[in-house]
Amino acid sequence: MAYKIAIIVGSLRKDSLNRKVARSICGIRGDNLDCTMVEIGDLPLYNQDHDGSPNEPEQYARFRDQVRNADGVLFVSPEYNRGMPGVLKNAIDVGSRPYGQSVFDKKPAAIVTASPGSIGGFGSNHQIRQSCVFLNMPVMQQPEAYLGHVNDDSFDESGCLKDGPLKDLVTTLAHSFHDWVDMIHRSRAALAEDSAHAAKHKQPA
Ligand SMILES: Cc1cc2nc3c(=O)[nH]c(=O)nc-3n(C[C@H](O)[C@H](O)[C@H](O)COP(=O)(O)O)c2cc1C
Repeated sequence: MAYKIAIIVGSLRKDSLNRKVARSICGIRGDNLDCTMVEIGDLPLYNQDHDGSPNEPEQYARFRDQVRNADGVLFVSPEYNRGMPGVLKNAIDVGSRPYGQSVFDKKPAAIVTASPGSIGGFGSNHQIRQSCVFLNMPVMQQPEAYLGHVNDDSFDESGCLKDGPLKDLVTTLAHSFHDWVDMIHRSRAALAEDSAHAAKHKQPA
C-alpha cells in the first residue's frame, strides 16, 4: 500500500531548488509514497476573523482537505533570513485552525531544507520543526536534512538530482521517511487492535 503524502514546498519560485528536491524524493520512493504537491501560493493571508465564517476563502478548504486526507506531510523549504518563508508559515497557520480542528494533528512528518548556502537552511528547518511540535506532529529525527551547496548544477536537464553524495543523502531520506510513516501507522493500528481486544475481553466488575 502506498502512503498518501502531502508535500508542502516553501518556495513559489518557478525554478525552485526545493521543489526539485521534493520531486526527486517522490521519484525515489514512488513505489510506496503517493505524493501530491499541495499548492500554497494561492492562500490568502490567514485572518482569524474568517474562522467558521461564510466568508472564509475557498482556498482554505481545498488546502485543509488535501492535508487532512494525507497519511503524512513532507515539508521541503528554503530558508529566508534564517527562518521559514512567510508563505509557508501562512500555510501552516491556515491548516492549524479553526482552533481544535488542525489538519496537522498527529500526522507523521519530515522536514527538508535546501539552500545554495553552506548551512542548508538550518534556521528554517528548526523553525518549521518548532511549529510541528506545537501542532502535535511526530517529526522524523534522523537523518537530519539540511541540504547545503544545492544549486542548478545539482540537477540534470529533466530536473532530477544528478548521481553523487546529495542524491545518496536524499535517497536515504526518502527511504527513512517511508519507514517513519509506516512505523507510525502500523503502531497505531496495533494499539487500536490491542484496545479493541482488551475491551472485548474485559471481565465484568
Ligand atoms: C528573501 C530571501 C532571503 C534569503 N535568506 C536566506 C537565508 O537566510 N539562508 C540561506 O541559506 N539562503 C537564503 N536565501 C537564498 C535562498 O536559499 C535561495 O534563493 C534559494 O534558491 C531559495 O530556494 P528555492 O530555490 O527553492 O526558491 C534567501 C533568498 C531570499 C529571496
